[in-house]
Amino acid sequence: MKYAIETFDLTKKFGDFLAVDTLNMKIENKSIFGFLGPNGAGKTTTIKMLTCLAQPTGGSANVAGYDINESPNEVRQKIGMVPQLVSLYGDLTVRENVELCADFYGMPRDLKEVRIEELMELVDIKYAQNKLVRQLSGGQKQKVSVVASLVHQPDILFLDEPTIGLDPTTKRVLWDLITDLNEKGHTIILCSHDMYEVELLCDNVGIINQGTLAAFDTPQGLKDTMIREEEDTKKAKLGTIIDKIEQENPIGQESSFKDLKGAVADLERENGKTKQMSIMVSNLNDKMVDEIQMLPVVFEVSKHHSGRVIMEMDEKCKTAVNDVIWAVMENNGNITSISTKDPSLEDVFVKVTAKEKEE
Ligand SMILES: Nc1ncnc2c1ncn2[C@@H]1O[C@H](COP(=O)(O)OP(=O)(O)OP(=O)(O)O)[C@@H](O)[C@H]1O
Ligand SMILES: [Mg+2]
Repeated sequence: MKYAIETFDLTKKFGDFLAVDTLNMKIENKSIFGFLGPNGAGKTTTIKMLTCLAQPTGGSANVAGYDINESPNEVRQKIGMVPQLVSLYGDLTVRENVELCADFYGMPRDLKEVRIEELMELVDIKYAQNKLVRQLSGGQKQKVSVVASLVHQPDILFLDEPTIGLDPTTKRVLWDLITDLNEKGHTIILCSHDMYEVELLCDNVGIINQGTLAAFDTPQGLKDTMIREEEDTKKAKLGTIIDKIEQENPIGQESSFKDLKGAVADLERENGKTKQMSIMVSNLNDKMVDEIQMLPVVFEVSKHHSGRVIMEMDEKCKTAVNDVIWAVMENNGNITSISTKDPSLEDVFVKVTAKEKEE
């Protein structure tokens, strides 16, 4: 089976409102898929249909090889779900909740006991196994929810914003768990607004907006597409700027170089295509700063008294960081630290969803 999930014009209408609109999407078996989109885009609604908690009003989908309309019971056996809002029984204990879940899937007693022990230890919630769920904190409830979703060893695990409200340590435990499960062959569908989390974990990403799929690729692929698309617009704009500068200043003068550089910088910034670099030089002097400033790939430089130079540079130029290092080393500078801040998947998300809105 190549795809864990395939949707065919999957649609959900609430009255006249199209929450999910003829969605066609393929999610590879044994991959980690990130499902992104602004609030109200249709992620939870899609997941509810794929997990047979809600019926589509149109189209269909295959999940773990079964049709959600024709074989919902078979689908349910193959999947686990950590819902956006924790759905546990508050008046039952942690252990009772998890056992109830295992019984729902008809797990044999021995296997059930072993599995529950294993999972409770894994997410570190065993210490609270006899507590009532309503007495737990949000993060503790989330852990119980994860255990309950995994007890029957599902092929496909759906996680709808699972790390919301988790402390940084618990978040990492869950990320490790997701990676581990994936390595063991489980397919993971992860809804998240945390771009760092998505970039860290996901093989592929789908961005849904107003019920339709706005983008689908690897995280890196999405970023590359965005860069390519912007390149053409930028070239056209740049041509106009160069013409204007040539008319106003004879080419070759220092002022025209500065104007051109300033114009390019404005354009790059407008497109969000700059990255920040910070370099610390123990014997920093003005000559080094001037030479950095003169580099065509560096747009704006600010110097700090502590020997730190912070600059905005062309995000795509592969030699930009090298160029800066050379400028310092040629002047016998001692570099003590370097850091850069790269563009993120968040830029793609904002861009893709804003574009859809404009259209
Ligand atoms: N039961 C319902 N009845 C009517 N409208 C609904 C219902 N459930 C969801 N919707 C609407 O469908 C749209 C999609 O909602 P959904 O919960 O799928 O969004 P989401 O992408 O999961 O958002 P979030 O990131 O906020 O969780 C929203 O506009 C929502 O108001
Ligand atoms: Mg949701």
